[in-house]
This record gives sequence, C-alpha cells and structure tokens, in this order.
Amino acid sequence: MQTVHTVSQVREYVRGWHQKGLSVGFVPTMGNLHDGHISLIKEARARCDVVVVSIFVNPTQFGPNEDFDRYPRTLDADAAALVDAGTDLLFAPSVDEMYPLGQNQTWVDVDGLGDHLCGASREGHFRGVTTVVSKLFNIVQPDVAVFGEKDFQQLAILRRMSEELLFPIKIVGASTSRESDGLARSSRNGFLNESERTLAPQLYKTLQQLKADIEAGESDYQELESRYRDSLEQAGFQVDYLTVANARSLAPASADDSDLVVAVAAKLGNTRLIDNVSLAVVRDR
Ligand code: PAJ
Repeated sequence: MQTVHTVSQVREYVRGWHQKGLSVGFVPTMGNLHDGHISLIKEARARCDVVVVSIFVNPTQFGPNEDFDRYPRTLDADAAALVDAGTDLLFAPSVDEMYPLGQNQTWVDVDGLGDHLCGASREGHFRGVTTVVSKLFNIVQPDVAVFGEKDFQQLAILRRMSEELLFPIKIVGASTSRESDGLARSSRNGFLNESERTLAPQLYKTLQQLKADIEAGESDYQELESRYRDSLEQAGFQVDYLTVANARSLAPASADDSDLVVAVAAKLGNTRLIDNVSLAVVRDR
C-alpha cells in the first residue's frame, strides 16, 4: 500500500490505473478504523481492481460544539489495518490540502433530505459532508464508492448528490457491521465508559422491537415513537430523535408508506450514537 498526502499524488496513481483499464473503488473515512470500515473496503475490493481509502477528519461537517478536536486520530494503526484489508492507496490529506484557500466559500448542498433526522439538530453537517465528498470524488475519480447503511441519511443524501451532479460513480451501500451484542460499530463507541457501554446495545434492541411491532400490524407510528422514546429515556439515554420515516424522503412516515426506516440518535453521557433498521411493510388491500 502507498500512503500519499497530496491531491496531485492521488491523481497520478489513479491516472495510471485508468490508463491500464483498471477499475477503482473508493472508501472515504475519517479514520480510527474498525471492522465496519473494513467491511466497506472488502466490498470495494470485491467490486474493483484497486481500492483507494481516504482518511480525513473533515472540519466543515462538525458544528462548533461538536467533537472535531477530540475525534480520535490513529493514522499508524489505521494504515496497518488497511494493509491487511488489501488497500492499494491511502490518501491522508491535511486540512490545508483539502481547503487550500482557507475559509471555504464553495458548498455542495442537497435540499430537503437534510431537513429531517440528524439534519434537524446538526445544522450545516450534511453540507460539510456533501462538500468534502464532492471534493474527494473530484480528486479520486473512482468507478465505485462504498458507504455504510449505518449512516442511512448520509448515504441517501450522497446518492442524491452523485446522481444530480452526474458523477459517473456507482454508489454502493454496505450493511451495518455490529458488535456481538448488536451495538453498531462506531469510532465514537470508544468514548463510552463501562456502564454506558453496557447500556448502549439497548438502542438496537429498541429498533428491533419497534420494527417487530410494525410488522405485527401496529401503524400508529407516533404512539410507537413516544412509547419507545420514553423507555430509552428511562434507561438513561437522552434521545435526540426516534422516528419511523419514509425510507426515500426521510420525512416522518405516513400510514400508507411501505418502505420505512426506523432511525434513532441518542446520547449516553457526552457520546452521540445513531442507528437504524429498514423494513418493508406489506399492506393488505
Ligand atoms: P466515518 O464515520 O469514518 O465513516 C466512514 C464510512 O464507514 C461511512 O460510509 C460510514 O457509514 C461507514 N461505517 C461506519 N460505521 C459503520 C458500521 N458499523 N458498519 C458499516 N459501515 C460503517 O462517514 C464518515 O466517516 C464521513 O462523514 C465521510 C463520509 C468520510 C465524509 O467526511
């Protein structure tokens, strides 16, 4: 694996590969890699001849009171894991390399999909994500890019962005990788203390129960949301949202929607966790 830090080095490698007719898979990350990230790299490996991974903790997607400064930066350990996973090129740019003129003035923003769920409480977050991923797409020019379904809203927004900006890139969603107790793998799990870590799997259990209730025929989504929200709060979570949403628009689901996602964001102490499950409701006509 080669590690490079500049845009021009990435372009040189990718030009060489494309000239040889090799397909390029791309997995953007913010590092502190865990098995969830590795599963995306394996997905890219299975689909493409070469795999590029980026590690960049992107300042424009963090709010002023969010954890940009304390976001874990573990480049050496990450590089070792990437070699094992079969990565060809690691792109680890500095903030100056990605934002060469300092204060950014050019933004990519997707209307609508960012209004709900995480977008409602993290103002400017998705604009930061779509802007940096556009820059990365422009630098790497991959054939395939892989993102996790764990960040369901991010994946939906990036699909929309890529389609509307006509990037010639296939966007692939990979299923959520979980610990044996169901907790979705996340770089932020390392912030949980022992008692928070014991409580954390309750988030996924709640989503599964809510999904089972809907599958059993319950269709008063607001009642379900408030019931399960209360039980999470009682267990010690501060719930940001627990929503049954339309899987395409991400707006709160109505009774005749059939493709749904149940999504949750909640804090344990200072650590914000998110998770989701998808379901298709078959309705009797
Ligand atoms: P990061 O949180 O590092 O995640 C990188 C990719 O790994 C994302 O596509 C995310 O959905 C995926 N991922 C994280 N945890 C996962 C899990 N448990 N199972 C499967 N996939 C998982 O998401 C970002 O970085 C950034 O917003 C980024 C897209 C890189 C833009 O800065």
